Amino acid sequence: MLNSINDPKIDWLGKRVLLRLDLNVPLNAEGEIIDDTRIKASLETTQFLLTKGARLIIASHLGRPKGKVKPELSLEPVARRLQELLDREIIFVHDCIGDGIKRLITELKPGNLLLLENLRFHSSEEKNEGNFAKLLAQNIDVYVNDAFGAAHRPHASVEGITRYVPIKLAGFLMQKEVENLNNLIQNPKRPFVAIIGGSKVSDKIAAIAPLLGRIDTLVIGGAMAYTFLKAQGKEIGNSRFEENRLQVAAALLKKASDNQVEVILPKDHVVVSEFSKDAPTRIVKKLEEGDVGIDIGPETLSACERAIHFAKTIFWNGPVGVYEWESGVQNTLGIAKAVAESEAFSVVGGGDSIAALHQADVYDKISYVSTGGGACLEFLQGIELPGVKPLIKR
Ligand code: 3PG
Repeated sequence: MLNSINDPKIDWLGKRVLLRLDLNVPLNAEGEIIDDTRIKASLETTQFLLTKGARLIIASHLGRPKGKVKPELSLEPVARRLQELLDREIIFVHDCIGDGIKRLITELKPGNLLLLENLRFHSSEEKNEGNFAKLLAQNIDVYVNDAFGAAHRPHASVEGITRYVPIKLAGFLMQKEVENLNNLIQNPKRPFVAIIGGSKVSDKIAAIAPLLGRIDTLVIGGAMAYTFLKAQGKEIGNSRFEENRLQVAAALLKKASDNQVEVILPKDHVVVSEFSKDAPTRIVKKLEEGDVGIDIGPETLSACERAIHFAKTIFWNGPVGVYEWESGVQNTLGIAKAVAESEAFSVVGGGDSIAALHQADVYDKISYVSTGGGACLEFLQGIELPGVKPLIKR
């Protein structure tokens, strides 16, 4: 259980609240927001605190500017979108610490809202420097964390700050994320099917091993499937794989077999001869020299659909093909539709999988869509996340 903002004993009126959100949304080359899911997901807590008369200071990161001021990663477009969605004025400030901001925070009126500039323009944020955390905590009465997507990062605004604020609470989104993901860990209904895709085994490896003790079927898709197929000694043509992960992949397949987990790897493929988005595609059962796999084939999709149909619990993270290309996205959309049609308790996390839900127009048919990608995977490993730990009721 987390210490919640919903505690009726808290008198919010006039309190200076630092609300950490994950407003890290994808932007296009023109700096426009492509997907505002995370902004929308933050509204419930934001509106609640404003209605209660708190003086609200919102902080977030955007992208990975690595301690440098990068105008293209400014939170300004996010401020505009948030202002539209909340239908109220937002004071946007061009830094997150400093005397000017300290004065604005002091002068902020109850029910008003200030959005700070990208925290990661300061390298101290990611280094979790105590002085930076103290500056963020200055003049703050209550710290509220609703940034589940960043909860796995031991950063100053996520972890360090909690040592310098008197009260630290979880927002509504944080609570929902933890409750729903806990449902996957504690006594999930069986059969439990996990679908893990994406390009790198290295990104997902740590998450797969602990899952094997809890699931019945593991679907492995995306480029990382080729590391597993190669580890099985199969011909993968010119498909991408991670040489230094072959042993780990083989060990995971062995562990799956020891745990009687059925593993579905691509048994047919959409391939191209040249790795480019406009290259003509073919469907093959066996890859040959020169073939590059860019999506699972229709037979593999059918096998996945069958497993999904009989599942009582589903977790999906990562596309099963080259998601950015029209030629490589089709069967990721097929997975999205199958998960949506299933009656299982389904949880989907990760930016590309969420985008696929939107593209397939099935977002609303999923039991729970997590706003966390990496955070979601780490949570499922049973790791106590640095952003969640300080909020736990002791
Ligand atoms: C995410 O998009 O997963 C979170 O916002 C965390 O971002 P990061 O991976 O850059 O720390």
